Amino acid sequence: MDKQYVVPKMKCVLLLCLLGLAAYQVNGQRSFSFSSRPFKQSRPQSRPQFQPQQKPRPQFRPQQQFRPQPRPQFRPQQQFRPQPKPQFRPQQQFRPQSFTSPGKALSGGSGAGDGKHGNSEYHYSWLHDGGIKYTGDEAHNYCSRLGQGWYAVGVNDNSENSFINGVITSHNKKYIWTGGKKASGDLFTWLGGGDTRSYNNWSHTGGHNTPQPDNREDRNENCLGILNNFYQDGVKWHDIACHHLKPVICERTV
Ligand SMILES: *[C@@H]1O[C@H](CO)[C@@H](O)[C@H](O)[C@H]1NC(C)=O
Repeated sequence: MDKQYVVPKMKCVLLLCLLGLAAYQVNGQRSFSFSSRPFKQSRPQSRPQFQPQQKPRPQFRPQQQFRPQPRPQFRPQQQFRPQPKPQFRPQQQFRPQSFTSPGKALSGGSGAGDGKHGNSEYHYSWLHDGGIKYTGDEAHNYCSRLGQGWYAVGVNDNSENSFINGVITSHNKKYIWTGGKKASGDLFTWLGGGDTRSYNNWSHTGGHNTPQPDNREDRNENCLGILNNFYQDGVKWHDIACHHLKPVICERTV
């Protein structure tokens, strides 16, 4: 009866020993061993094997290739800038309108003169008013409205007379008013000073084929105009009734 118990016990002990031995051998190589060597050896072995998985990732970088492509093509917005507004500059073309009121636009300004001769500058009304013609008195007022020192032209010597004649002929004017006004008889004075005794260039003829001044029209020719060959007499002085209409040359001493 005892052998029957002993044998199973022996078998059990043997089995346990075999199992224990087997377990020891297996675990000893892995984790049951308290030596540090197996751990250190196991780490380098295992992790380098995962690294190759990280290597393929750099191949996804081509995402960077999408960046430079799109937006530089939207810059053409800059092409819209230069197009429109430079065409609105013609405002400068409206400046000449200011000359229709010469008294204001040119008051005292150095830009009122259209020509210079000697110590004077000259202003030609037709270059500023669109060709308006004035009575003698209106012509005198036109010049005084230009500003301080301006008056209808006075012709005081042969040199100035030649200059004024040149203006009349080069601008194809039939006639102009001067600043000469009758003082008495045949004597005319200039608004700017002096009179026709010191110098004159009266025409030798007129409506009555008589030398000027002749005071022909209504005995009332109190203004002095220069006519451009009106009586086939060249550019010459005539006494003229002041109600006639003519452009004017103004003068200012500078
Ligand atoms: C008068 O004017 C004419 C030009 O029309 C000129 O030839 C002549 O010399 C002038 N006479 C005098 C005295 O200045």
